[in-house]
Amino acid sequence: MKALDEIRKEISQIDSQLVNLIEKRMHLAIGVAEIKKENKLPIYHPNREKEVMKLATDQLADKKLSGLIQAIFNEIFTKSRALQGEKLFPYNIVLVGFMGTGKSSVGQHIAKLLSLDFIDTDRLIEERENMSIKEIFNTHGEAYFRRLEKMVIKDVSQDKNKVISCGGGVVIDQENVEILKEKGRIILLEATADTIKARVDKNNDRPLLSESPNLEEIQKKLDDRKAYYRQSADITINTDCKSIDEICQEMLEELL
Ligand code: S3P
Repeated sequence: MKALDEIRKEISQIDSQLVNLIEKRMHLAIGVAEIKKENKLPIYHPNREKEVMKLATDQLADKKLSGLIQAIFNEIFTKSRALQGEKLFPYNIVLVGFMGTGKSSVGQHIAKLLSLDFIDTDRLIEERENMSIKEIFNTHGEAYFRRLEKMVIKDVSQDKNKVISCGGGVVIDQENVEILKEKGRIILLEATADTIKARVDKNNDRPLLSESPNLEEIQKKLDDRKAYYRQSADITINTDCKSIDEICQEMLEELL
């Protein structure tokens, strides 16, 4: 089958060109990350991705393939951001702060921007115990929860290049802070009692706060914990009146 052999040969040649081009593209993306770091430029540029996508699909002769090209380019963007993320942030990005300061939402968003793995210590504890945090507190008590929490902190701190959102009480234990700092930089998200109240009022299944906590209750707990949070933090970001995207951009600027 001469024709088949010829086609396969041509496909192999294209594959080898593709490999070389992808390799080259990824190296260039790392170069971009280095320049951005040196010049403190914004890391994530959604408009640039849109432009690249448009250029790619515009030059396509067979428009039926545009869905395919878009899928491939989305994958290229994700991998390219991951390489840049690993290069720029060769450690864990650890989020701490009081309940309702936005650790989980901000953590998920930043992990997506940098194509890094996201871990939420509370969700991991819930998965391991097959129970909600509230149920764990009610059934086994806080001391049991804190032991689980410490185990999870040790486990998630083994590797780097992750975004780790920690339960609000993690930094009360100095050993947890030391473990997290070995491979991570700790970012403290802060908010006023008013902001926290507005956020927890929407959904409060937090065992350490009453069902509908008033400002005094929140303020008291915040004051009790403030010193622990501040001592643990490498970077502190105020989150009041800011969108998740704004908080993430500020965080990236501070980290670089
Ligand atoms: C806690 C905060 C909670 C959860 C647990 C204890 C705390 O996490 O870990 O209810 O001690 O502040 P969030 O801060 O994510 O709500």
